[in-house]
Amino acid sequence: MNLLEVKSLNKVFGGLHAVQDMSFEVQQGTVHSLIGPNGAGKTTLINLITGMYTPTSGQVAFETKDITGLAPQKLPGRGMARTFQNLQVCMNMSAVENVMVGAHLRQNTGLLAGLLSLPGLRVADKACRTEALEAMAQVGIAAFADAHASQMPYGALKRLEIARALMTRPRMVLMDEPAAGLNPTETAEVGQLIRRLADQGLTVLLVEHDMPLVMRISNTITVLNYGKKLAEGTPEEMRSNPEVIAAYLGAEVEEPAHTQAEPKKAFA
Ligand SMILES: Nc1ncnc2c1ncn2[C@@H]1O[C@H](COP(=O)(O)OP(=O)(O)OP(=O)(O)O)[C@@H](O)[C@H]1O
Ligand SMILES: [Mg+2]
Repeated sequence: MNLLEVKSLNKVFGGLHAVQDMSFEVQQGTVHSLIGPNGAGKTTLINLITGMYTPTSGQVAFETKDITGLAPQKLPGRGMARTFQNLQVCMNMSAVENVMVGAHLRQNTGLLAGLLSLPGLRVADKACRTEALEAMAQVGIAAFADAHASQMPYGALKRLEIARALMTRPRMVLMDEPAAGLNPTETAEVGQLIRRLADQGLTVLLVEHDMPLVMRISNTITVLNYGKKLAEGTPEEMRSNPEVIAAYLGAEVEEPAHTQAEPKKAFA
């Protein structure tokens, strides 16, 4: 079943056509990755799907319902959550409070309302705290249950964002570079976490530059270049696609000897 359907989506910023006629579908329970060079339009696409930007034209449907241009704060209530390329963590709050904000997002009270009511929650809403601690354990940061966000290492903060997204009890999570800035061990662990979540039924739209991670955990990969869909298929198909290789390695498509020698390094 298609959980997400993106149809002929366009976004123009002034003279820049950042997303051009993008169409793709995400199947329920899969890890569907969006890859492409810097500036290809991956984050813009996520921002269009999640209502951060209004599309110039095109449609987005989630669970067959039109969500085109729906305000971002409405999406957790519909079953969709996201994480951010640049950390969006409140450093003056504890780890668990940051995760508890996810419950407010789900209830559509908004981030600010969530933050403002947190002192009350700390006393009253034990269930919310318990669920937040469970979400932290689920993403492997139970050790930081009593930590302040400002004391946490970067890798744990990246997972904290995933825990906050899970607190909205989503059916789909859009993750924008969850492994950016992580060392190889942390990257592999985040990959295992994402795959495990998908195996448990969560649908994941993943933007990620780490090719070994993408190749290992994706069911489907959509490749963007200059805002357009360049190719789509399984990791195996993308690994051997000359156009994909050329877009990543800067090689000429017309030079098969060159393009075929290099990709194994890039996608190993
Ligand atoms: N709010 C904006 N206003 C104007 N231009 C924008 C805006 N957001 C993105 N762009 C431009 O749109 C293009 C696509 O950017 P985007 O951030 O979507 O790329 P990306 O694929 O996520 O890149 P990266 O891998 O570096 O994160 C870039 O040329 C970028 O400068
Ligand atoms: Mg980006």
